[in-house]
Formats: sequence, structure tokens, C-alpha cells
Amino acid sequence: MIVTTKELFKAAYGKYAIGAYNINNLEQCMGLFRGNVQSKAPFIIQISKGARAYTDKLMLEAIIRAADKVFPEAIFAVHLDHGDEATCMDCIKSGFYSSVMIDASSKPFEENVATTKRVVDAAHAAGLVVEAELGQLGGVEEHVQVSESEAKLTNPDQAKEFVERTGVDSLACAIGTSHGAFKFTGTQGLHFDVLSEIQKRLPNFPLVMHGSSSVPQEEVRRINIAGGKLAGAKGVDDNQFLQAAKLGVTKINIDTDGRLVWCRVHREHFILHPEDFDLRPAGKEFMAAYAEFIAAKNVKLGSAGHLDEVRAMVTK
Ligand code: G3H
Ligand code: 13P
Ligand code: ZN
Repeated sequence: MIVTTKELFKAAYGKYAIGAYNINNLEQCMGLFRGNVQSKAPFIIQISKGARAYTDKLMLEAIIRAADKVFPEAIFAVHLDHGDEATCMDCIKSGFYSSVMIDASSKPFEENVATTKRVVDAAHAAGLVVEAELGQLGGVEEHVQVSESEAKLTNPDQAKEFVERTGVDSLACAIGTSHGAFKFTGTQGLHFDVLSEIQKRLPNFPLVMHGSSSVPQEEVRRINIAGGKLAGAKGVDDNQFLQAAKLGVTKINIDTDGRLVWCRVHREHFILHPEDFDLRPAGKEFMAAYAEFIAAKNVKLGSAGHLDEVRAMVTK
């Protein structure tokens, strides 16, 4: 059942976070649904601009519609990840998405406000909800001065003004994470102090944490043994997810970890079975491994086991 992120946030706020997982193809979609159904978790499917263009946006939509039928017990939102204005408008018009993210965070504050407001107006008129971003993720290296790195993090006062002026439904905040497999070079981590200040100014308002893959060291080790070159890859400590959830983080975005599972399974498979050239055996292994990863991740997010309660909320 496709629902809006707003409905999922209402159920989860302050207690746990909903996993927002990116998909690009059929195998990821199957693993994702299996893992969420097995762990009885509501979830968010994220589709990026790149994923829409990988085959054809209609292919991905059709795969998700089919999964909705194959897994009638699943409850999920379909969300555009990191959209520009044109892509947001296209998704709003399509009638398939339940929420969109407008990412104008690289633009000056006033331009971010104006662009986000245009998307919010169009989305709300069509019954969709909107996530926007304020602050800049990533690239906060150890050699950067504290004042410089603070400037990239979301400013709590600006966050309040941004939400009030745009009418946006949730806000992605920069609190020390970055996208990809190489998030930290040393002892950096999440800025709970900044998060807490944002929550004080925006109580009961859902916040979003991008760049939240934990880059499991065991995956990295196995990938490297199997010929990969990911030395130094490091991610977010997923034991901190629930602490973030209590401070208002209601959606946690994970993509890189799924790519690592894919990479490890395929590298190991073809080393162990050099005679193999069939795509199905490795594909089956990946779907099973990805489902297992998702189910375990939902335990860390606290979303595991909440499916029936969310069903009761959205169907009443
Ligand atoms: O935050 C970005 C996501 O990891 C999506 O990545 O644009 O390569 O699909 P992508
Ligand atoms: P990761 O690269 O940490 O998986 O972050 C994904 C993300 O933020 C998608 O929007
Ligand atoms: Zn992101």
C-alpha cells in the first residue's frame, strides 16, 4: 500500500526513524520489499534522478507497482530523492509519487526558499508532501577550521525561518554526514548539539538525515579481499540512529550500503564460481543478502515490528 511520508512520520516521530532506501532495478526492489515485510517495517522507496534515467522512469514505476501487488502487506511511500525543480514537477504530474524532495541547498538561502516554495505549492495542490534541504552535506574534513565546518551545517535559526516561509513538510539537515562510502577520515561524527537546537526551534517537525549509510567494515573487508579497492571507507554509527530519532530525525536515507551489498555478493560470487555466466544465481544471492541487510537495518532504525500499528493508523 502506497502512503505519504507524512503519514509514516506521524506514526514514527520521536520514537523511531523510517528507513528511506534508494533503488535502481528489479533485484533491489525485491530485496527491499522482502526485507521490510520480513522485519514488519514501514519504509520509503527513494528514486533519484539517476535511477529514473538508468533504464526508463516508467520501468522503475512499473516494478514498484508490481511489488505492491506481490507484497500486499507492505506499507511504503514513493519518494523522489534530490530532485531539481523540473524533476519535482514531473513527478508531481505523474500521479505515482507520494512525496518529492526539492534540493536547492547549493543555492543561496533566498533562492532555496523561493524554489522550495514553488514546489511546495504545486505538490500540496496535488496532495503530495515535500522534503527540502538546508545546509551542506559532506566535505567537512578534519583540517577544516571549526567555524568553517559549522558554516556548512544547518543553522537552527535559519531552519525555523526556512520551514515557516516555505511550508515544507520535512527538512533534510546537514549535521555532519555526507553521501558515499568515505564519510569520515578520523573521529568526526554526528552533531547532536546542532540537531537538538533545530528540534527546539521546530518541535514535532520531521527532520531527515541524508548520507546515513554505516558502510559496514565487514562488507568493506570482504569487497577488498575479493579484489575491490575501498580502503578507508567509513560510515555513520547506526547505533546512533535511535538517539537521532528521539531528536526529531524521522527519515534516515541509506543508499551506499545497498551498493556495497551488491558489490560484495557479485565479486565473491564470480570468484567462487568462475565458470558461471548466468545472471540469475548471483541475482538470487543478492536479493537474499539485501533482504537480510534491510531487515537488520530496520532493527537499528527502530522501525522493525511497527507495520501492523502503522496499518491500523493509515486504514482507519
Ligand atoms: O544521495 C544520493 C543517492 O545516493 C542517490 O545516488 O544519484 O547516484 O542515484 P544517485
Ligand atoms: P548514503 O550515501 O550514505 O547511502 O546516503 C544516501 C542518501 O542520502 C540518499 O539521499
Ligand atoms: Zn541524500
